[in-house]
Order: sequence, then structure tokens, then C-alpha cells
Amino acid sequence: MGRNIILTGFMGTGKSSVGQVLAERLSMNFYDTDIEIEKQYGPIEQIFHSLGESVFRGYEREIAHIVSEFTNTVIATGGGFMVDQENADLLSSSGRVFCLTASIEEILERLTDQSEVAARPLLHSEDSVAAISALLVERKGVYGEFEQVKTDGKTLEEVAGEISSRLVKSELS
Ligand code: S3P
Repeated sequence: MGRNIILTGFMGTGKSSVGQVLAERLSMNFYDTDIEIEKQYGPIEQIFHSLGESVFRGYEREIAHIVSEFTNTVIATGGGFMVDQENADLLSSSGRVFCLTASIEEILERLTDQSEVAARPLLHSEDSVAAISALLVERKGVYGEFEQVKTDGKTLEEVAGEISSRLVKSELS
């Protein structure tokens, strides 16, 4: 029974894109928590806007229970998913967690597209740099608990390659 690979990290660090490349490379299934929430409940932007963040976090907790039963799956989580301790415990016990990191500059560069911003209500602010910095500070402790993978200046393939070689190395040791 294969264990899962869980990707966490801030918005714009490439969890979903790296996750897809990684899943293909390792012949694993791929699952994206945000996509599943959108399939079931509609656009994230609308959930935040009409029902509020706490309802969205409730959906994430439902999904956490479902995905913790998965095997052989690369699971890309939303940036706030693993901030919830119970979600983090559930997913950590189902596989190995990697936290993707990127500098604020790179996060901003990756999220310049309007549709990218629209899907991330927590960044809807006059001052996106301040919004990102504040959230990064708030989440530093949580993200820091997981195995870190730097993504600055790297392609999706390079990041996926680094994760798979770390997995191979730890299997060999
Ligand atoms: C969030 C990150 C988003 C999405 C939602 C909330 C967060 O996912 O789940 O907008 O709290 O960091 P990405 O990390 O995929 O952008």
C-alpha cells in the first residue's frame, strides 16, 4: 500500500503544478484539495464572499478526513489547509509532507494574473506585498514544521525532481 505525498506551502509556491508533474513522474494519483472543494461547492472566491472563510475551512476539514484514507496519491493542499492542526495530523499520518517555499517577489510574480488573484481572496488587498508578508509571518511556525523545498528560480520539473530524489535517498538509507 503506497503512502501519499502531501504538498503544503504558501499560495503561489507551485503546489498544484509541481504536484501534477510529480504524480506523473512517480505514477501516482493526483488530488488537489481546492479543485475538489470547487467541484463540490463552487468557486473559492464565491465561498469566501458569500459564506465566509470559516465555512471554507470547514470544507477543508471534511476533505482532510476523506484524503487521509487515500494511498499512492500526491495531494496538493490549499495554502491554509495544513495550518489547521487536525488536518495536519491527519495528512501527516497518511504520508510524507513537503512544504514548498518561495520569496515574496517570486510569489507576486507568479500571482500577477488576475484569475490567479481572484481565486485567492486572502490576497484581495490594496497592498498585496503587505498582505502576503503578514500571512507569511502568521504561518511561519506552521510551515516551518514540515520538510522545506525551495522553489525560487526552479522549474516545475526541477522541484518535482528534487522531491523524488529525496524520496529515493530516504528509501535507500
Ligand atoms: C488559501 C490558499 C488558496 C485557497 C484559498 C485559501 C490560504 O490555495 O485554498 O484561497 O489560506 O492560503 P493555494 O495555496 O493553492 O493558492
